[in-house]
Amino acid sequence: MTKAAPKNFRVKSFGCQMNVYDGERMAEMLSEQGIVPAAEGEEADLVVLNTCHIREKAAEKVYSDIGRLRKAGAKSGREPMIAVAGCVAQAEGEEIMARSPGVSMVVGPQAYHRLPQMIDRAVKGERVTDTDMPAIAKFGALPARRKRAPSAFLTVQEGCDKFCTYCVVPYTRGAEISRPFADLVEEAKRLVDGGAREITLLGQNVNAWRGEDDRGRAVGLEGLVRALAALPDLARIRYTTSHPNDMTPGLIAAHGELDKLMPYLHLPVQSGSDRVLAAMNRSHTAQSYVRVIEQFREARPDIAISGDFIVGFPGETDAEFEETLRMVDDIRYAAAFSFKYSPRPGTPAATMDAQVPEAVMDERLQRLQSLLAVHSQAFNESTVGKRCDILVERKGRRDGQWIGKTPWLQSAYFTGDAEIGDLVTVELEQAGPNSLAARRLGTVDA
Ligand code: SAH
Ligand code: SF4
Ligand code: F3S
Repeated sequence: MTKAAPKNFRVKSFGCQMNVYDGERMAEMLSEQGIVPAAEGEEADLVVLNTCHIREKAAEKVYSDIGRLRKAGAKSGREPMIAVAGCVAQAEGEEIMARSPGVSMVVGPQAYHRLPQMIDRAVKGERVTDTDMPAIAKFGALPARRKRAPSAFLTVQEGCDKFCTYCVVPYTRGAEISRPFADLVEEAKRLVDGGAREITLLGQNVNAWRGEDDRGRAVGLEGLVRALAALPDLARIRYTTSHPNDMTPGLIAAHGELDKLMPYLHLPVQSGSDRVLAAMNRSHTAQSYVRVIEQFREARPDIAISGDFIVGFPGETDAEFEETLRMVDDIRYAAAFSFKYSPRPGTPAATMDAQVPEAVMDERLQRLQSLLAVHSQAFNESTVGKRCDILVERKGRRDGQWIGKTPWLQSAYFTGDAEIGDLVTVELEQAGPNSLAARRLGTVDA
């Protein structure tokens, strides 16, 4: 049955920042085709669910969302055209098509540049799946960036060759690839022209990025960071997510040399136990990880460290979990994400013996999160009294109040004269559980 061509769309992204970036690029591409973003609260003709497969709960969301959309559509007599994109599309494309007749399109993370052609076929009544993998073609085929915002994401690297035994990313995103240096500088310039003061470079293994600079020299991520630091109107550079084994002395040193490189490092570790790290195929030890952090602190003493943790990996004993707690105490994280292990279909860990009971995982997660909360509060308190700049991202709830990020990626708010996109100098005055109160001292530049 043919369908009406969609006039407006909504993209809903789940999961990591790379999905947020992909969602923005899909939105830009659809706008280029003359399909407009649906207004807040308005029903969209086309809904793109940009999904995440990392844990079971994340993956299940797509089916409940499809159900909700179809129900709402049946009620209003106007069912939207549904496209499932992202990592669940890549991993379970066929299953989605079989289970959900309301879905017209399934499009993987490396194929979404072909979405417009897929829509044309869906309009003719076809159900279309495209989960082809070669990643680099996508970027060349996308229209130029249009985003206008003070803080923007820029994907520089995609995919993963590490094959941690619990993780789906190598299967959903494919092999590690680096986008070319010149393309990235070009995209960064467009973002800056559109008002970006801060750019966060993204990659599943961002510090594995490799390229050739404008003089043909082989460079790593620090070479790219240095080139972007030379853009006069760009004030801040961040990057995420790094892998401990891809860390280079050059990138560490850059943190001591470049004011524009923000003092924040997200470096997942997953566990503090060498036996568990080996079973996870992390290919680093607790000690080699701690050594990397020490080197960052030598280069940039105020650097805020963040990490990811998994509790209840198959076979994890109480004593091994305690090693994770000890590592957390050692490192004193400013921020962290921690998860219960979730068995993922097709990964080696899913079929390992000694899966840890849910109740044990619950208890471990709670203990870990309480400890991480103590350290993050301590970090935030340690910044009280400091002067720093806040990049203003939005209005606060109260009149005249503004919210933005400190160099250490804390949320902070102040009252006074400002505009979105300003860098405002403040003194940090008080640390709450989710944000810091600050006093405005002045605007860095108008
Ligand atoms: N490339 C990054 C991030 C990968 S996904 C890295 O190597 O660290 C983000 C986080 O999700 C991981 O760091 C890990 O902590 C968590 N994660 C991945 N697979 C998981 C699983 N099967 N169960 C629970 N947490 C998982
Ligand atoms: Fe997943 Fe490991 Fe690759 Fe990170 S490094 S994306 S956790 S396989
Ligand atoms: Fe999720 Fe895919 Fe990102 S599985 S975390 S959306 S790479």
